[in-house]
Amino acid sequence: MPVLYNEKEKVFALNTKNTTYMMGIADDKYPGHLYYGKKLSAPCGEYLMRTGESPLVPSKLKREMVSFMDSFPMEYPAFGIGDFRDTCLTVRTEAGHRGCELHLDSWKITKGKPGLTGLPATFGTEEECQTLDLIMKDPVIGLKATLRYSCFEDVDAITRTVLLENESDRPLYLEKVLSTSVEMDNDRGFELITLSGSWARERNIIRRPVVRGKQGIGSVRGESSHQDHPFIALVSKGTDQDKGEAYGFHFVYSGNFMAQAEVNQFDMVRVTMGIHPEGFTWKLNPGETFTAPEVVMVYSDEGIGKMSRTYHDLYRSHLIRSPYLHKERPILINNWEATYFNFTTEKLIAIAKEAKSCGIEMLVMDDGWFGHRNSDNSSLGDWFVNEEKIQGGLKYLVDQVNAIGLKFGIWFEPEMISPDSELFRAHPDWAIQIPGREPAQCREQYVLDLTRKEVRDYAYESVAKILRSANIAYVKWDMNRQLTDIGSPGLAADCQGELYHRYVLAVYEMQERLVTEFPDLLLENCSGGGARFDPGMLYYSPQIWCSDDMDVPERLAIQEGTALCYPLSCMGAHVGASPNHTTGRVAPFETRGHVALAGTFGYELDVTKIPQEDRDMIPAQCADYHKYHGLIADGDYYRVDSYYENHYFDCWEVVAKDKSEVLVTCVEVWNRPNFKSRKICFKGLDPKAMYRLEGTDQVYPGDLLMYGGYLLPRAFGDLKSTLLHFVRE
Ligand code: GLA
Repeated sequence: MPVLYNEKEKVFALNTKNTTYMMGIADDKYPGHLYYGKKLSAPCGEYLMRTGESPLVPSKLKREMVSFMDSFPMEYPAFGIGDFRDTCLTVRTEAGHRGCELHLDSWKITKGKPGLTGLPATFGTEEECQTLDLIMKDPVIGLKATLRYSCFEDVDAITRTVLLENESDRPLYLEKVLSTSVEMDNDRGFELITLSGSWARERNIIRRPVVRGKQGIGSVRGESSHQDHPFIALVSKGTDQDKGEAYGFHFVYSGNFMAQAEVNQFDMVRVTMGIHPEGFTWKLNPGETFTAPEVVMVYSDEGIGKMSRTYHDLYRSHLIRSPYLHKERPILINNWEATYFNFTTEKLIAIAKEAKSCGIEMLVMDDGWFGHRNSDNSSLGDWFVNEEKIQGGLKYLVDQVNAIGLKFGIWFEPEMISPDSELFRAHPDWAIQIPGREPAQCREQYVLDLTRKEVRDYAYESVAKILRSANIAYVKWDMNRQLTDIGSPGLAADCQGELYHRYVLAVYEMQERLVTEFPDLLLENCSGGGARFDPGMLYYSPQIWCSDDMDVPERLAIQEGTALCYPLSCMGAHVGASPNHTTGRVAPFETRGHVALAGTFGYELDVTKIPQEDRDMIPAQCADYHKYHGLIADGDYYRVDSYYENHYFDCWEVVAKDKSEVLVTCVEVWNRPNFKSRKICFKGLDPKAMYRLEGTDQVYPGDLLMYGGYLLPRAFGDLKSTLLHFVRE
């Protein structure tokens, strides 16, 4: 049984195949964290709570209650009654007081995992997971909190969330609702890993020591953001890809978030994660429930690599719902960097014809096909076809492209409104804004107030109407600015603090509608590149555009960071033009192809203009995509070397689950003279099996490849790559 309760010791244990998460109940009312790590044999160990020791003076001693509150590792700490660390919950009453003390009331273990109303979440059958609800109550303010833990036994993952219900007859104001808190001794000298960056360099890995005080990341941009990703890992000192302890925390949410590690006076580290409290207040009326988004926790005692593979497995089996999850995606060519806004039906058809002759399978028409949008300064919201550019209309274009033998995809930015648009002239109040203050523009656009049903319906119908009008197989759903000037006429004065979260819920509702009405649609999320690459979006789209940056070295870093917690099958990756449009760097076509192969694969260039020798390589690259898709999408990912760390060389591999084959990608980023060949030690193979390097008569024992190494000749020149495919004999 994955979830167990030891009545005598009052200890709950959540067990997966290799891990245990344990909680004890102090004083019959306070659930506290006991243990998270390698699997334990029984749900005992109440002594680990150390309630008999100072400073954890038992709470029965009324005169020392505050010392208890300030040192006990509460499973769900609340503000106002003596816990001076960062807590998960702040509740204000109508009278203006902030104080909440949750006591355990009852608990329930069920098979399976209930969904979260309006929110994306991992899912599993009754055979695959079990759920523990700890029902907590604060009778003084009439709040019920259900701490929900679900345990994916086979996948080694545990999810957490909280549901807050107002059982009083007065409204309660939730000023801070985080989804999780886990508190551990910092005796392993923890280090913190975050995925941070900017536009065109999203999710670069940053590692730093965890020190006294608070350290963390967050977003108050209304989306998960380019700058920080809703993921943190705590790793013990010395942890690398293959050894050491790693604790991952990933937030299944696409809006404001905070994630933090706080080391207190007793050298305990409290990890918290949830919706960012800045600008957040939720009015909870009597009888209403607020559901917090969930956090996915993964523990690995075999380094960072195992943590990554666990997330990959979990998301492939229990988060991504799309029918495309395991399917080959059509190899697409997107016209954004090929033409920007300067295209016509004729130009697109020319690209489609050439693309078809190379083996490409879908044309995606990017930004600029609607309203009078010839630059990024107008027309968002006017989702009608610009027939000056798309002569003959959209259906004509789609039919022509289909007749050439390609599928057709289209770009939208449904959440936006340009000041220069018919929509804005008709409904200036549809932009999110504060009355009396001109909202700040970003890329010369505003954000639609999707919290209002009429606005949401308009935005949804704009997309759906176009999709119903022609044979469209794919949508790229973009979002190119952050939220500011938070205000909505649809919300009462004491509910304005709900806008950020209601906005995210609205996006989820629209995407749910879209995938329900168009079940065969391939949806790719995007936000100015990779600003909304998060697990929330994965619930709706099987792939997300990783970054606007296709420059080889930058992409290597972005894809390495992304693969820390996402399967390769969801990383939107294309072969871009050279010189690259974001860095100006020149890279061989072959290398650009090998890097894009680690994701969904496609092209983003003008195939009618690139050099013939590059064009000649496309059919073989497309063939490689088809040949390796199953392995790359569903295999086990291992990082062998990191260019981001060593500045010279990058290498990753994907091993089939049954270890029958491995695909290794090596990129010699900066060449250095006068070295012998590179010795690469593979990972994850069957040490007892023999592996043949495909296309050669070279056969090696698995253990030799893993421990002795494979000798890779050094490339001559920079940015040269090699793809090695070994198959078990
Ligand atoms: C964003 C996307 C790009 C492209 C442009 C169009 O930046 O990330 O791929 O679609 O918008 O304006």
